[in-house]
Amino acid sequence: MQTEINEQLDARRAAARAGGGERRIAAQHAKGKLTARERLDVLLDPGSFEEYDIYKTHRCVDFGMEENVIDGDGVVTGWGTIDGRPVYVFSQDFTVFGGSLSETHAEKICKVMDLAVQNGVPLIGLNDSGGARIQEGVASLGGYAEVFWRNVQASGVIPQISVIMGPCAGGAVYSPAMTDFIYMVRDSSYMFVTGPDVVKTVTNEVVTAEELGGASTHTRRSSVADNAFDNDIETLQEVRRLYGFLPLSSREAPATYPGNDSATRVDQALDTLIPASANQPYDMLEVVRSIADAGEFLEIQPEHAANILCGFVRMAGDTVGIVANQPMVLAGVLDIDSARKAARFVRFCDAFNIPVVTLVDVPGFLPGTSQEYGGIIKHGAKLLFAYAEATVPKVTVITRKAYGGAYDVMASKHIRADVNYAWPTAEIAVMGAKGATEILYRSELDDPVKIAERTAEYEKRFANPFIAAQRGFIDEVIQPHSTRRRVLRALALLKTKSATAPARKHSNIPL
Ligand code: HXC
Repeated sequence: MQTEINEQLDARRAAARAGGGERRIAAQHAKGKLTARERLDVLLDPGSFEEYDIYKTHRCVDFGMEENVIDGDGVVTGWGTIDGRPVYVFSQDFTVFGGSLSETHAEKICKVMDLAVQNGVPLIGLNDSGGARIQEGVASLGGYAEVFWRNVQASGVIPQISVIMGPCAGGAVYSPAMTDFIYMVRDSSYMFVTGPDVVKTVTNEVVTAEELGGASTHTRRSSVADNAFDNDIETLQEVRRLYGFLPLSSREAPATYPGNDSATRVDQALDTLIPASANQPYDMLEVVRSIADAGEFLEIQPEHAANILCGFVRMAGDTVGIVANQPMVLAGVLDIDSARKAARFVRFCDAFNIPVVTLVDVPGFLPGTSQEYGGIIKHGAKLLFAYAEATVPKVTVITRKAYGGAYDVMASKHIRADVNYAWPTAEIAVMGAKGATEILYRSELDDPVKIAERTAEYEKRFANPFIAAQRGFIDEVIQPHSTRRRVLRALALLKTKSATAPARKHSNIPL
């Protein structure tokens, strides 16, 4: 039988869990959104959530706030498990002061951030907030900055995932921006530094919140968000799936699951994947799925810069990062967006001990004024820098084109990939045969027969992997059907790789 004092505890907990009350919970549901606690129920294993600071309240005495005190102060914090592995969480409660961030709300978030770093456990933040608590002024701004500072300290130490599940405006966007992955919910979440009203006043542009900072803006155009899903439940389930690929911290090996696929499986379909004509595209996703355990690929930023594929697969149960040119989109060319997307992904993998497998079919860098004016030199250099700096195991497979500077950039032997394979269809050269011939034999340009002969000659000499293989830049020319087996063997051997960077404070990647 419960004593009276224990019953009081239950009642107190129940009151705190009610958040901003029934009316506001109903309003949240009416928008198609779950409450902060319902979201944690979906995100975490059943019964695993342990809450901290449920009784914490704000200390504000301005604007009548002393009369308006709600336990928990608009954010639910604590830890739980996902598939049995631990994770620290915070979930902003929009029903309490619009989830706005007060000094004490920030203290709650900072507490779990500190514990996450100390204990080497990832952090997932569910964001749904009207921004800085207006009644608290600079105390709230200071609270935000305390969170930002911790995001930076935690970067590269523990994986940090942000889920945007409602408004996220003003400085509030900068904490998610400094985390590793951002997922959004379509039609109910948005992120911007200044909202539509301010935009109208300052620039005269008329734009809706959705156009300015909705999921499609950030997953397609700006690339601020890594993916978006239709509703809270689907989004949180996808976060669980992403978490399953990540290590607990940079001190740990990446996540590993019991293998569900044969390490020696061959795929004859790959032998005929490359079309007869070099200008015809094919779907690089087929190669990715073919080498992955059970064909599973978790793609990052699938809607942005689709000329490069980035994401996670498992091979023999272990997490592997994939970077692959996609000939189906812009012929797989490297441009500003694709270079930035892949560079960030490679750096994440390197920070968290995840090997990188690179699949190459790249005609070069995209020419043109818009690329040059946009700084393709510096953005392209990001990818080169990221690959060169990465000390995790790097395995490269050239399936077709590897032309020019893009050959060097895409995890070539020269920037210290460990194992470089090529399919017999690989063409490793300074540029395509037509372009090369037109430069080398400019004086014969008005004789199409001669030019065709020269082009054929160049193709015969250079459009193959053997010149690179003769120099040892390619370790082996492999049968396409054996790609999974060969890559897996390479990765198995590289598990004991030891490589260190020179001692320094930090490198200076071209930002
Ligand atoms: C205190 C807030 C609040 C805030 C919302 N509320 N935002 N309380 N501080 N920032 C309260 C409302 O008073 C309301 O309380 C409840 O939350 C729900 O808000 P509604 O406006 O009714 O909801 P909705 O119509 O859905 O609109 C949501 C919203 C809007 C778009 C977020 O509330 C809004 O524009 N809020 C202000 C956003 C803002 O300017 N924030 C400051 C950004 S600057 P009741 O009691 O009625 O339920 C910033 C600087 C940080 O964040 C800098 C860090 C470097």
